[in-house]
Amino acid sequence: MEIAMRTGLINSFTSITMLLVCIFLLFLSLAFATQDNITSNESIKDGESPLVSAGGTFELGFFSPGNSMNRFLGVWYKNELSTHKEVIWVANREIPLKDRSGFLNFTQQGVLLLFNGNNERIWSSNKTTNVESPVMQLLDSGNLVVIDGKDNNFILWQSFEYPCDTFLPGMMIGGNSQTGVDRNLISWKSADDPGPGQFSFGIDRQGFPQLVIRNGTLKHCRLGSWNGKRFTGTPDLPRDQFLKYDFILNKTHADYSYEILRPGALLTRLIVNQSGFVERFMRPIQNNNWTSIYSAPRDLCDNYSVCGAHMICKMVDQSHNCTCLEGFEPKSHTDWSRGCARRSALNCTHGIFQNFTGLKLPDTSLSWYDTSMSLVECKDMCLKNCSCTAYANSNITGEASGCILWFGELVDMREFSTGGQDLYIRMPPPLKTDQTTSNTNSGKKKLVGIILGSTVLAGVLMVGLTFYIWRKKQRKQEIEEDMELPSFHLATIVKATDNFSSNNKLGQGGFGPVYKGTLIDGQEIAVKRLSKSSRQGLTEFKNEVILIAKLQHRNLVKLLGCCIQGDEVMLIYEFMPNKSLDYFIFDQTRNKFLDWQRRNLIIGGIARGLLYLHQDSRLRIIHRDLKASNILLDKDMNPKISDFGMARLFGVDQIEADTNKVVGTYGYMSPEYAVDGRFSLKSDVFSFGVLVLEIISGKKNRGFSHPDHCHNLLGHAWKLWTEERALELLDNMSDRPYSVSEVLRCIHVGLLCVQQKPEERPNMSSVVLMLGSENSLPDPKQPGFFTERNMPAVDSSSGNHESSSINDLTISQLDAR
Ligand SMILES: *[C@@H]1O[C@H](CO)[C@@H](O)[C@H](O)[C@H]1NC(C)=O
Ligand SMILES: *[C@@H]1O[C@H](CO)[C@@H](O)[C@H](O)[C@H]1NC(C)=O
Ligand SMILES: *[C@@H]1O[C@H](CO)[C@@H](O)[C@H](O)[C@H]1NC(C)=O
Ligand SMILES: *[C@@H]1O[C@H](CO)[C@@H](O)[C@H](O)[C@H]1NC(C)=O
Ligand SMILES: *[C@@H]1O[C@H](CO)[C@@H](O)[C@H](O)[C@H]1NC(C)=O
Ligand SMILES: *[C@@H]1O[C@H](CO)[C@@H](O)[C@H](O)[C@H]1NC(C)=O
Ligand SMILES: *[C@@H]1O[C@H](CO)[C@@H](O)[C@H](O)[C@H]1NC(C)=O
Ligand SMILES: *[C@@H]1O[C@H](CO)[C@@H](O)[C@H](O)[C@H]1NC(C)=O
Ligand SMILES: *[C@@H]1O[C@H](CO)[C@@H](O)[C@H](O)[C@H]1NC(C)=O
Ligand SMILES: *[C@@H]1O[C@H](CO)[C@@H](O)[C@H](O)[C@H]1NC(C)=O
Ligand SMILES: *[C@@H]1O[C@H](CO)[C@@H](O)[C@H](O)[C@H]1NC(C)=O
Ligand SMILES: *[C@@H]1O[C@H](CO)[C@@H](O)[C@H](O)[C@H]1NC(C)=O
Repeated sequence: MEIAMRTGLINSFTSITMLLVCIFLLFLSLAFATQDNITSNESIKDGESPLVSAGGTFELGFFSPGNSMNRFLGVWYKNELSTHKEVIWVANREIPLKDRSGFLNFTQQGVLLLFNGNNERIWSSNKTTNVESPVMQLLDSGNLVVIDGKDNNFILWQSFEYPCDTFLPGMMIGGNSQTGVDRNLISWKSADDPGPGQFSFGIDRQGFPQLVIRNGTLKHCRLGSWNGKRFTGTPDLPRDQFLKYDFILNKTHADYSYEILRPGALLTRLIVNQSGFVERFMRPIQNNNWTSIYSAPRDLCDNYSVCGAHMICKMVDQSHNCTCLEGFEPKSHTDWSRGCARRSALNCTHGIFQNFTGLKLPDTSLSWYDTSMSLVECKDMCLKNCSCTAYANSNITGEASGCILWFGELVDMREFSTGGQDLYIRMPPPLKTDQTTSNTNSGKKKLVGIILGSTVLAGVLMVGLTFYIWRKKQRKQEIEEDMELPSFHLATIVKATDNFSSNNKLGQGGFGPVYKGTLIDGQEIAVKRLSKSSRQGLTEFKNEVILIAKLQHRNLVKLLGCCIQGDEVMLIYEFMPNKSLDYFIFDQTRNKFLDWQRRNLIIGGIARGLLYLHQDSRLRIIHRDLKASNILLDKDMNPKISDFGMARLFGVDQIEADTNKVVGTYGYMSPEYAVDGRFSLKSDVFSFGVLVLEIISGKKNRGFSHPDHCHNLLGHAWKLWTEERALELLDNMSDRPYSVSEVLRCIHVGLLCVQQKPEERPNMSSVVLMLGSENSLPDPKQPGFFTERNMPAVDSSSGNHESSSINDLTISQLDAR
């Protein structure tokens, strides 16, 4: 028995020891797997588990690309789900390891040395240091660094200074003309070979610096020079919600870098690929699917100098069309590529400048620049130099500034519908028209003529110059606004809405279907896809979008931007998770979510939103289609007015106008509008009044029925009001607390808003005041349209009170302009 006990004891001892050893081993292996610091005299061997960055985003180790058996030391995105590696950096891209015997040593001097199995050095970081304890670390930005172990901020060497084909946030492209450093991206040779390929991407520092993709030494695509906002060849780069670009230009440096605005949510990389494209990818941190969000060249006109000198490239359908600049004619009628020449030659001492707008600025490799000059100085400078052929501002942000001068031919220009720049091209002086008469004139007359002529000319010039400067200022401001057109790429929207899948359809509005979408960073949007037939000219439309996007109020749904590409025109709004007001107030169960207090807040919010539209914003906007389904609710059930500005977008809005174009929804339309087509701010006030009574009663105006009479909701409310039973209008909330005085005040204001005559209705600022005060209010009269019979007989179902779909239908028959 004793023996048995002992054995038991020993057994349990053994198992405890085993367990401890196991835990210890596990701890060791864990410690090893998460280790991200390598101190000197340590090494990493092929076959060992890779070094993981502190945040777990990247790994450093040995890999074989594609179908190749060769081994390379590199950094890639950690991805447990796939064996495919998105490699961002390769150490030995030029000299592959032929087998798996390679290893990386980190020396006491802080040098990284890569050896093959024969102890032959394949690659080296080539930078010795004299710090005592260098440490090698893989940072979570993807940067492999050697730092001073005693001073973490002191970076001795970093892989970000030796880019391969990938440009990451925190990296810098470009360089320093003094030290001769010039950082480019260079494509891989192929998917199997990370060796330096044919294409490179970097800054060309000849003349005014510009971003260029090269095929070997030849320019392949020019994204162009930085204009303070973007590169001149990328005007449609969507106003980026994700990235912030930075371009530094000083005497010695031309550096391009970018950062990600929400680093915790997204990863992004830009690569130059084997086919010569620069491509930007993005993905949310939590899934591994990369989406391509931008690539260049985008079309044929983006290819470097597809058209000859002094030609403008335009895309027509899927092909490019080269045309001469105004004042130029083709050098050859059979060969476009020879470009165009001025109709008459330049004159060194005399010349004028012709202004061209909406351009991608020409190649700046034969240019001169000064970032502090003004446009007028720039022009003078160009005039003084016989070989100067054109000038432009170098910086178009704020008050445009800076000067670029071109010498020689102007190549690689294209035209953009928005976001192009102004270029002033030197032209010969216009031909004199009085040459035939001058022969017969006496010398005296001639002199008088010359004096008179030059005086007039000087006067004209002065006036012209003043006007020119004034116009310039004006135009700069206009362009400034133009530049801010918040546009989205079609591809972004297609991706966000899953190609407009029916699952994502939120509904069908008066102007087209509405889809829910999710941008790659997780932001939810609502996309209104406008029907093709019913919109105005594109320029006016864009202008309106810019203006409307500027309207911001907590009770308005925010217009984030638009997407215009080919036939597609879409408006992008913030997404409202709680649908619309009608979804709650007219539903027997959901209406319970809206107690009196909430309803009162909603009424106040709508009133303030409408007041802003009518009076407080820069534009005076009549909504024209205010109704319960156009009041959206955010996550806290705050009301936000949607669909405002549609009339402006469709080019039919004026503050008061007669129109035969009907917009609106029966049940909410004021009498003067429905009957005569006359609308004004007061028509919106009428709709607001209807909405107030609907919110209080939980009943629709249109489709309202009562056993005792055949009035609509307005008539019913009026009847109760005159019988002093107005509280009965309140939606069944007997079990919920409410304030009698508030309810009565709201009904009172609602009735004042639905008066027959526009002039008897208060304006929205009075409404907001009335709702917020205790003062006595004027007595309402009988409302307009208080019975159904007053409605114009437009739809056959007007007698059918159950038909809610017809009731809510927006009538939007707008003529396309
Ligand atoms: C690499 O480092 C290991 C470990 O410090 C060392 O034993 C080895 O000799 C080094 N190899 C070379 C070629 O320096
Ligand atoms: C690295 O190796 C050298 C030479 O063997 C030695 O002098 C030094 O102390 C070692 N350093 C560390 C941190 O182990
Ligand atoms: C390191 O220096 C050697 C010799 O100077 C050179 O051949 C090699 O390309 C350099 N390697 C790197 C990564 O700079
Ligand atoms: C790596 O080294 C840095 C600097 O010496 C230190 O701050 C960090 O805590 C170390 N990390 C690990 C996991 O040892
Ligand atoms: C790159 O240049 C080579 C040789 O000049 C040419 O054959 C090839 O078509 C070019 N590639 C592209 C994509 O333009
Ligand atoms: C462009 O001009 C703006 C405003 O004048 C200035 O803030 C900005 O730094 C300039 N940008 C460049 C690249 O010169
Ligand atoms: C130019 O800019 C770089 C930063 O990119 C800065 O380090 C350098 O000191 C600047 N040089 C001058 C002359 O301003
Ligand atoms: C390079 O990028 C372009 C544009 O996104 C793409 O069409 C092409 O397939 C890519 N080429 C390779 C080899 O990935
Ligand atoms: C990512 O891609 C995989 C395979 O293509 C797909 O099954 C998965 O649904 C995608 N995930 C997301 C979030 O798009
Ligand atoms: C190019 O555009 C011009 C003017 O817009 C037009 O006259 C010409 O027919 C177009 N050429 C081609 C090939 O489309
Ligand atoms: C330049 O224009 C001026 C005035 O029109 C004229 O007198 C002069 O001859 C012209 N010079 C040339 C080289 O055409
Ligand atoms: C430039 O051209 C545009 C369009 O042709 C014109 O509206 C503008 O007034 C011109 N600007 C100047 C400064 O001449």
